[in-house]
Amino acid sequence: TSTVEDQSDPFSLVADELSILADRLRSMVVAEVPKLASAAEYFFKMGVEGKRFRPTAYWMRQVTGLRPLCLLLGVLKQVLLLMATALNMPVSVSSADRLSPASVVDNLETQLRRRQQCIAEITEMIHVASLLHDDVLDDADTRRGVSSLNSVMGNKLAVLAGDFLLSRACVALASLHNTEVVTLLAKVVEHLVTGETMQMTTTSEQRLNMQYYMDKTYFKTASLISNSCKAIALLAGQTAEAATLAYEYGKNLGLAYQLIDDVLDYTGTSASLGKGSLSDIRHGIVTAPLLFAIEEFPQLSEVVQRGLDNPADIDLALDYLGKSQGIQKAKELALKHANLAAEAIDSLPESDDEDVRRSRRALVDLTHRVINRTK
Ligand code: FPP
Ligand code: MG
Ligand code: MG
Repeated sequence: TSTVEDQSDPFSLVADELSILADRLRSMVVAEVPKLASAAEYFFKMGVEGKRFRPTAYWMRQVTGLRPLCLLLGVLKQVLLLMATALNMPVSVSSADRLSPASVVDNLETQLRRRQQCIAEITEMIHVASLLHDDVLDDADTRRGVSSLNSVMGNKLAVLAGDFLLSRACVALASLHNTEVVTLLAKVVEHLVTGETMQMTTTSEQRLNMQYYMDKTYFKTASLISNSCKAIALLAGQTAEAATLAYEYGKNLGLAYQLIDDVLDYTGTSASLGKGSLSDIRHGIVTAPLLFAIEEFPQLSEVVQRGLDNPADIDLALDYLGKSQGIQKAKELALKHANLAAEAIDSLPESDDEDVRRSRRALVDLTHRVINRTK
């Protein structure tokens, strides 16, 4: 593949591998019970068919009409595979390997890659399981433009289908025989549940608290991507430092993505307030721009606390937001996290390997795309 192609599409490096992953996932969710089998089929509609989209389309919310979270997590497998290559550097493999014939080393590398792919598959299953349950909790009719499983099969089967995927993810996780990785991904499931519960039980005080908002965002959005990036590093036997850098990349990319998403809800693809869908504020959801505006104009907190359930209050809140630095500050915070993500990649030990370097460039490129996707 040419460099030009890589620059326009950071995922071209792992495009072929994705279809292998899709086939394997298909076999991992085979179920004996017909109802579960059809639920598993649905799994492919939701997650795995992403390879049919042009990767860049993931970043064009308007074009695809997909919901933000799906967009970020739609590139999750690609990010994990790129991370696997980005971390492909000599580790303290036993000295015996240095004496081994090249074929043995090749074989070990293939095995490692297979195990890292498995992390991508497990992550996908956890992600889709959480979405199946989320659609039950949100009473959602559609997901990614298709009917949600709960709307087709009812809540009970949708919950069971989520449990089924989670159980298959556990089986796959166990097969890796790495308790540290099991602990990490179990933690992710806990975080998803924590984030969802935090969102559901927010008190009026917490609603105005930036830290609470960022914590919830980490649990709901960034934990999955950050901890699976870390798992990729642990499987490779990387140092604790490299594993932390992989984690920091995922975490900061996830947070930057969500913050930009919050901004776009107000501005759309233009830079001016009110050009977005305004769906958050209309649903009474308080995100980063409004939280920053409240710091500047404490009076705004009263308006927000009244519930944002009438058009006059929404207009009033938008007035304050327009006068404030809220949008600007949310963008700056997103940029800060995107830069931290890029820094994490740049802090990895240097490598001469061209594949490693290209994968790292693709990961850094992704941090820019997250910030610039208003264009
Ligand atoms: C989407 O949020 C939902 C999540 C990111 C996680 C939901 C987590 C649970 C339901 C806990 C159970 C977890 C597992 C692993 C079974 P959203 O409703 O804000 O966004 P949407 O537009 O994608 O629905
Ligand atoms: Mg939802
Ligand atoms: Mg939800």
